[in-house]
Amino acid sequence: MAEDLEIIAGTKTEQYEFLIPQIKSLLAGESDLVANLANVVAALKQQFAWLWVGFYVVKENELVLAPFQGPIACTRIQKGRGVCGTSWQTARTLIVPDVEKFPGHIACSSLSKSEIVVPVIRNNDVVAVLDVDSEHLDYFDDIDRTYLEKIVSLIQFHDSLHP
Ligand code: SME
Repeated sequence: MAEDLEIIAGTKTEQYEFLIPQIKSLLAGESDLVANLANVVAALKQQFAWLWVGFYVVKENELVLAPFQGPIACTRIQKGRGVCGTSWQTARTLIVPDVEKFPGHIACSSLSKSEIVVPVIRNNDVVAVLDVDSEHLDYFDDIDRTYLEKIVSLIQFHDSLHP
């Protein structure tokens, strides 16, 4: 896959609908997890220009920073801590319209104002989370939830990486 990603203007739904087939083709034929996570976050960042988008992967009962795009971030998060650790613990997508009102929010960047975290679930275990941060308040909604959950479901997490 050597073509450029095509970016479009339009509604959020239109942007996701246009991006998803391109993500599918990025993932097709490549089995390396890091390579695939890296391209998925790069594609999302190119289309949406969010402040930060990246994965944390569960390793030895911690979330460990994995491929991301944006400012440097904290490297390890415990289960139940912050938005990411809460999404891991509850195995639920969390939309946080104002991070300052989320008890225990971990401020990796002072610019972050709102956040969505989507757990990646394989064989009933959370194996990673996708975290997206915006510098705008109340930036994420059910459209993001629906499409980001779909995108994480496209990524093949190998059994060897399960906790
Ligand atoms: N804010 C997150 C931590 C990760 S960074 O935003 C990249 C949290 O509260 O879990």
